Amino acid sequence: MTTENIVWHPHPVTKENRSIQKNQRPCILWFTGLSGSGKSTIAGAVEQKLYELGHHTYLLDGDNVRHGLNKDLGFSDDDRVENIRRIGEMSKLFVDAGMIVLTAFISPFRDDRRMVRDLVEQHEFIEVYMDTPLATCELRDPKGLYKKARAGEIKNFTGVDSEYEIPETPEVIVNAQELNIEQCADKVIQYLNANTIIFSQ
Ligand code: ADX
Repeated sequence: MTTENIVWHPHPVTKENRSIQKNQRPCILWFTGLSGSGKSTIAGAVEQKLYELGHHTYLLDGDNVRHGLNKDLGFSDDDRVENIRRIGEMSKLFVDAGMIVLTAFISPFRDDRRMVRDLVEQHEFIEVYMDTPLATCELRDPKGLYKKARAGEIKNFTGVDSEYEIPETPEVIVNAQELNIEQCADKVIQYLNANTIIFSQ
């Protein structure tokens, strides 16, 4: 498929207009980590704080998006690449809308995360690595999926028989073993303040 005969149409209301109206700089807070590492929990806590501060946010969550937009995708390497490509494009639209978008996907491959980073402006992609060891995720096993994967009932499970590539230079590292939910969320909010993504607090 090409975009050969498709012409980009510029519209009068710009990303800048929409951002100024919302009193924030739009960005993607890209949470990555193993299943059970706390991505959804911490992303939710950060969104709650941003909401209370009056910011305009949207949280895209792996399991939820796989119920709708991406319900045709599985967990082969190719499907995971396509999963992240679509999320990346969707996140870019949210950024264009002036929103702070939070995403919670395993996103196990470095190249895919890099692809999303390259879709937006340099300061707009903030990689948040949930640094929770596999053993801890497996012990928690909130959905009982590790158990099934170890029993061979689920194939290509990240951390069991599918790789997770640790981020090399994430903007934020969250160690949910040492910090509680509140402290983890605060660490991300502090980053946003320090980098003037948000101006409140
Ligand atoms: S990603 O690898 O493509 O980024 P995504 O975050 O969308 O994954 O979905 C991960 C969620 O799907 C997990 O939290 C888990 O609940 C569920 N899941 C089901 N099968 C698998 C699998 N084989 N590997 C990882 N997660 C799986």
